[in-house]
Amino acid sequence: MEFLDITTALAPAEATSPTPVDADMVKDVVSGLSATQKFLPSRWFYDDEGSRLFQKIMIMPSYYPSRVEHEILVRRAQDLVRWIAPSSGEVDLIELGCGDGTKTVSLCTALHDAGVPLAFHAIDVSAHALAELSTRFKHELPQVAVHALRGDYFQRWPSVYALRKQVAMFLGSNIGNLPIAQAIGLLKRIRSRLKRGDLLLLGVDLQKDPRAVLAAYNDVEGVTAQFNLNLLSRLNRELGMNFDLTAFRHYACYSPIDGAARSFLVSTVEQTVRSTQLARTFHFRAGETIYTEQSQKYTFDTVEELAASGGFTVCDHITDAREWYSISVLGAH
Ligand SMILES: C[S@@+](CC[C@H](N)C(=O)[O-])C[C@H]1O[C@@H](n2cnc3c(N)ncnc32)[C@H](O)[C@@H]1O
Repeated sequence: MEFLDITTALAPAEATSPTPVDADMVKDVVSGLSATQKFLPSRWFYDDEGSRLFQKIMIMPSYYPSRVEHEILVRRAQDLVRWIAPSSGEVDLIELGCGDGTKTVSLCTALHDAGVPLAFHAIDVSAHALAELSTRFKHELPQVAVHALRGDYFQRWPSVYALRKQVAMFLGSNIGNLPIAQAIGLLKRIRSRLKRGDLLLLGVDLQKDPRAVLAAYNDVEGVTAQFNLNLLSRLNRELGMNFDLTAFRHYACYSPIDGAARSFLVSTVEQTVRSTQLARTFHFRAGETIYTEQSQKYTFDTVEELAASGGFTVCDHITDAREWYSISVLGAH
């Protein structure tokens, strides 16, 4: 298991050296762009530029999920503290796909202020996100030990003492980006790392007025469109592809029937895209789409079904006043 401390994770050499070709990316791109309905998994959004664009998305007025989740972490902090540390023992807080830590620092501050001895393990594929998180904690909460682990949360887990309580966190409605079989697979993997009495805090976006949902993925500022198109820039750079970014458009839709918001890139013309690294071409009809992201919206019932399939029991749904979003407390029993 590779364990990088903050300084190693963010060494300048890593930021400047050419990115090696990622075998998982090659597999995903070849299978995704060869499928009848072309698709690209959303984890590839987060190169440095993708992480920067996501930071912009989080502060856009229409992108309510980050704002509302943050509101819960601040306003309902005491409820979360009671679940995380009902007694005086030490806690390992493990956040998967932590991003820049804007929201988590509030929860860690509440835990620290309540006198909970805490180590924070932050896992993310993005070096940029981990760098931002590290700087934030250094300035805002230097008392808490932060262990940054760069890698895939399907494969990595921090080294922790067996006797300490573990509280895993999967916030930002990240779970909604995974196809259902993968979401259940990830919950089962997390469950297998926890012992009885440990917890998973799962951030889930709840079903609401479809217009509010759609606006979050279809902002007038066009930042989500840039974020979506950046995926093609990344493939151009890392796989030697020649996507023409002016020949693709962002398209988002939301279906209240299945509760899924979906983002696509639409090819505006018939075209063939080549990859020198893969020695492959991919043909696009005019109007053909690449499915790039699913953002599932839940009900309390569907969260409970998902939790049960992953081997957890729902202990509590901690929501905002409008019930737009829930940080659901899942117990490992
Ligand atoms: C939607 S952002 C959410 C960030 C943060 N949790 C928040 O709520 O603000 C998703 C984050 O997960 C990371 N990520 C996506 N897929 C990942 C994977 N397979 N393993 C580790 N991190 C991943 C991305 O780099 C990004 O920082």
